[in-house]
Amino acid sequence: MEKLEFFGNDTQVNLQKRYYRLWPFLKSHPRLSFVGRGIGIDDPYLDEVEALVGLTMELGILSMAFTQATILEELRAVLEENGLKVGLWHHLVLTGNMETSCRSVVESMHLPAEYQINRISASTSPHQIQKVQQLMQNCGVAPLPGYILRGRYIPTVAVMIIGSQDEVVATGAGIFRHNPDSPYGKAAHIGFLATEPSLRGKGFGRLLLARIILACYEEHAAELVHTGVRTDNIPSHRVCRICGLEDSGMYMLGASYPQIINVTEFTR
Ligand SMILES: CC(C)(COP(=O)(O)OP(=O)(O)OC[C@H]1O[C@@H](n2cnc3c(N)ncnc32)[C@H](O)[C@@H]1OP(=O)(O)O)[C@@H](O)C(=O)NCCC(=O)NCCS
Repeated sequence: MEKLEFFGNDTQVNLQKRYYRLWPFLKSHPRLSFVGRGIGIDDPYLDEVEALVGLTMELGILSMAFTQATILEELRAVLEENGLKVGLWHHLVLTGNMETSCRSVVESMHLPAEYQINRISASTSPHQIQKVQQLMQNCGVAPLPGYILRGRYIPTVAVMIIGSQDEVVATGAGIFRHNPDSPYGKAAHIGFLATEPSLRGKGFGRLLLARIILACYEEHAAELVHTGVRTDNIPSHRVCRICGLEDSGMYMLGASYPQIINVTEFTR
């Protein structure tokens, strides 16, 4: 298990282990998706809500991407009636031409000389991976296991900005989490952004997000990039909008089962 580089508190690590064990049996389901720290379902619908409740109870948490606004309140009410906690994220997608948004972010942003931006890969040191995960944890972003960050399991673009002392000051990722044969097979869930609090507002977040999006398109032929942002997360909304992402009118809903994971916010 060590080489899989799980990370977090006991609950987070236990869930990461559980999902790693379960995913080989679930991955052929066309609507299920995976990011190592969690399992998701695409396009939830009301008629299956009992099954969604049951699945959430088995898994502990379940994210529901591409949730239609028309079913949101009813879906949420039934999940809550069944004792689940529900979190809500606005669903954002890249619209328009990424050249005019992401490319201009990359070209206009000059990283100060003491910092460099690196891709996370198979050769990134385990120590550096832990620093990335610790930064996520410190910033309220549920950490991704190392094998996901390294792209060993599913196609992933993960990046970090490091300082002169080799410290990781910002990170983010794009993950092709959906079933490759599904309509979202070429869709990347982007974000997982975290910037060291004392260095926020310097453009690190937008630079990483723009680089991630460009790499998703250029290296993995992405057809869609999307993310979920909480209503009150103003900095994240700003960064996403600067990179060309806009509200899709849908939601990303997260359900959790308090007997397995009893936190109000699983992730930012
Ligand atoms: C979101 C986050 C990664 C942004 O990182 P960053 O390096 O500060 O990003 P940038 O410097 O590129 O941009 C930050 C933007 O938010 C704005 N901002 C920051 N705090 C703000 C606030 N309280 N109100 C309004 N805008 C705010 C900044 O002004 C800037 O926008 P602007 O250039 O239009 O002024 C960082 O805030 C963070 O780590 N947050 C905690 C983890 C998180 O929420 N991750 C995202 C999960 S979806």
